[in-house]
Amino acid sequence: MLILLDTANFEAITRMYDLFPYDGVTTNPTILKNEKNDPMKQLLRIREFLPAGSALHAQVISETAEEMVEEAHYMVKRLGEGLYVKVPVSAQGLKAISILSKEGIHVTATAIYTPMQAFMAAKAGAKFTAPYVNRIDNMGADGVKAAMDIHDMLRMHKLDSEVLAASFKNSQQILELCRHGIGSVTAAPDVLEALIKHPATDHAITAFNNDFAEAFGKNKTMLELQGI
Ligand code: E4P
Repeated sequence: MLILLDTANFEAITRMYDLFPYDGVTTNPTILKNEKNDPMKQLLRIREFLPAGSALHAQVISETAEEMVEEAHYMVKRLGEGLYVKVPVSAQGLKAISILSKEGIHVTATAIYTPMQAFMAAKAGAKFTAPYVNRIDNMGADGVKAAMDIHDMLRMHKLDSEVLAASFKNSQQILELCRHGIGSVTAAPDVLEALIKHPATDHAITAFNNDFAEAFGKNKTMLELQGI
């Protein structure tokens, strides 16, 4: 399962990449707004930082298919051919997904609230389909189940597209999708940090280190041991 960071915050991206095995960064217009920087400047900075092979996803703002296609061409020109252009699944968006995919541009279909929206986007050629798990939950439906249904439908119909589940509020939602074999997830840094947080682990580390210090001296590590 690919794990992506849903943020445009440069400090968070560099800090998290230093520590964790992440596969890329996703953004949306709201996320870019939060950085209070020129959005293209911010995206270029992120692109430059990301290791080769790490994906960057960025969204078009236009609302007609023709304008989305023009905007996507510009974004790929500035941010490189590895860019995944996020296109919302409106009727115009579907048309744009189809045109861009035929041109060989990677498209992530976004703002997905139902399995059929994802299915149609995948049929139009989207490489990723992004259901908004937590937002679906908040509408009284089951976001995790919607993402699982999409995953199963894409496989059943042999569509060349992966789920990129998005909009998470807790690590349990991600665990359930991981168990189901979902292709990828994207979440904010605090949710991703929570994937490995456990007070019992912190407690175990402290107890081990206290025992070692008590026996062999404070601040000693294996580096100081001669073995003779
Ligand atoms: C994904 O494409 C969206 O950018 C994002 O995950 C939405 O998350 P939110 O519901 O926390 O805003």
